[in-house]
Amino acid sequence: MNQAEFAKAVAGLPLAKYAFFPSIGSTNDEVAEWARQGVQGLALAAADEQTRGRGRAGRRWLTPPGSALAFSILLDLAAGFDASRLGCASGLGALAVCEALETLYKLSPQIKWPNDVLLDGMKACGVLPEAHWTGSRLRALILGIGINIAPDDMPPQEALSFPATCVEEALGSRIKPGDLLRGVLERIFVWKDRLATVEFLEAWQGRLAYLGENVHLDVGKDRIIEAQLEGLAADGSLRLRLSTGELRAFQMGEIQIRPLAKK
Ligand code: BTN
Repeated sequence: MNQAEFAKAVAGLPLAKYAFFPSIGSTNDEVAEWARQGVQGLALAAADEQTRGRGRAGRRWLTPPGSALAFSILLDLAAGFDASRLGCASGLGALAVCEALETLYKLSPQIKWPNDVLLDGMKACGVLPEAHWTGSRLRALILGIGINIAPDDMPPQEALSFPATCVEEALGSRIKPGDLLRGVLERIFVWKDRLATVEFLEAWQGRLAYLGENVHLDVGKDRIIEAQLEGLAADGSLRLRLSTGELRAFQMGEIQIRPLAKK
């Protein structure tokens, strides 16, 4: 994406601040700085290339130029955001990406809880939510979204813990990344003040991969257990039926889901 495509993508949207960077360390760091400077309202930083892109759990996230969408949204917390909705906010990015892919390209994405977007069962997008606190007060919530657009963006499969794909591979044709950015932003605006509503949870849950199926859960310390994926709880945590029959809710970061064949 370039500056002109970015300008077209954000035209007319009620953003408090926005900027495009041909190259940057990490867009999440940029909007975190904006939050420190006191920017209020929904703000957006996007980049064509990231040199220090981050994924969840301290992993690197590659964003070579010309092949990916990398952007971070500073969510508007001015209206007294309820910190108990943090788990739901992590699903917001993935849901918005899914809905944009469905509307624009008639694709059928799924969400590997909490917020990986899968196309044909492979990861095409990751979301990095980062909360910034001052004492016990939630000061800023940032959603960093990375979407693989073209095959050049993808690391070799052997370097990945989960198979990856990109939008153009799933679609079989080229896309305009600016159109996808706009589509995602429009859906963020639709949902951002409706987190934790029944409609939001239904839309998120309705796209969950492996819903009703047995999956493997990596619960850390080399422990893998099997459980049935039952759906979402009201706070966005994931409900799973363990083989003991116990129904348990797991928070983001507690578990990693793997399809059964991938133990
Ligand atoms: C993951 O699946 O591990 C999350 C990946 C999130 C990557 C995006 S790209 C834009 C933003 N800036 C970053 O440094 N990371 C996020």
